[in-house]
Amino acid sequence: MKRIIYLFIALVIPFVTTIGQTNKKDHAMIEKSLFGKLKDGKEVYIYTLKNKPGATVKIITYGATVVSLTAPDRNGKYADVALGYDNLEGYETGSAYLGAIAGRYANRIAGAKFTLDGKTYQLSANDGKNQLHGGKIGFSKDLWTAKSFESKSGPALELTLVSPDGDQGYPGEVTLHVTYTLTNDNELRIDYKGTTNKPTILNPTNHTYFNLTGVFTNTILNHEVKINADYYTPIDKESIPTGKIDKVENTPLDFLKLTAIGSRINDNFEQLKLAHGYDFNYVLNNYNGKVREAADVYEPTTGRYLQIFTDEPGLQFYTGNFLNGTPLGKNGVAYLFRTGFAMEAEHYPDSPNEPKWPSVVLNPGQTYRQTTIYKFSAK
Ligand code: BGC
Repeated sequence: MKRIIYLFIALVIPFVTTIGQTNKKDHAMIEKSLFGKLKDGKEVYIYTLKNKPGATVKIITYGATVVSLTAPDRNGKYADVALGYDNLEGYETGSAYLGAIAGRYANRIAGAKFTLDGKTYQLSANDGKNQLHGGKIGFSKDLWTAKSFESKSGPALELTLVSPDGDQGYPGEVTLHVTYTLTNDNELRIDYKGTTNKPTILNPTNHTYFNLTGVFTNTILNHEVKINADYYTPIDKESIPTGKIDKVENTPLDFLKLTAIGSRINDNFEQLKLAHGYDFNYVLNNYNGKVREAADVYEPTTGRYLQIFTDEPGLQFYTGNFLNGTPLGKNGVAYLFRTGFAMEAEHYPDSPNEPKWPSVVLNPGQTYRQTTIYKFSAK
């Protein structure tokens, strides 16, 4: 009998899933439940992390994806500010990377190929002849394993993916750990740690779209943005960097001071037209491997304020120019043109083919690391 009881405790209790404290206010909490099943029958779980002030983040093991994230307005009212889907089908069929970890290489690689140590690798192309966000079945379409825990700063979830040698054409077996921590200061902190068994390239990011009004039928055009970057990498008509690094000064790409997204988005500026709005890699100032403030976003009607900190060299600022309403988002809402923006911390696009830019090569024995923080407050 005792054995049966022990067995029950060991096997069943962890699945019942309230790990940490229950619903009491002022207590951090972690919950786990089934989100859905993939076509091959594999189970996808959803974890809810709640911090002491009462913010929550929901993360699924498919794509290590942030499904929802709440933040307070100036009256202390929390609302979901992250675009997402209600069910797994949305994530399986959607092509907008809502909330997901994009990789191995976030952003574009020209011609879906690169050369490393004299060998050229042909990758899976999924954006015309180019690769976008890791190829047809990138990290955003993979099933990760997850382990939740209480950290000193708040509830946390570590997700792990082992990407086999040759995955989407990339060399080396890569193991990537992504740890989300919802700190008691209302930060979503994302720590990445990756290793490989052969020389390869690695450049993951988180692809959450935010709408700080908390109402996803609103556009994000009244949000005010500040990006600490004097330079950006101009693009060609396929959104591939030309290889130049240009000043933002005297262009509608200058966000050195808080400026409404919509104030210049339709300006007659060739780069804006090529990108159909903002969809640019900003060369962040003061790149030295340390975490520093990269960008701020202020939403004037609710007062919600988002600060982005990262140790990465680049930040892709994207204004949801390709959101087209399908698949339907949470609560049946169609996510239309410019109803969400993303701030993706990463290396510059196409860096594998631009030897002068910060390197994205990862060798055996080295550890890839990234820390990016989305911090919420209100003014
Ligand atoms: C890119 C866009 C792309 C989008 C896909 C962004 O990171 O910059 O060009 O269309 O991802 O959802």
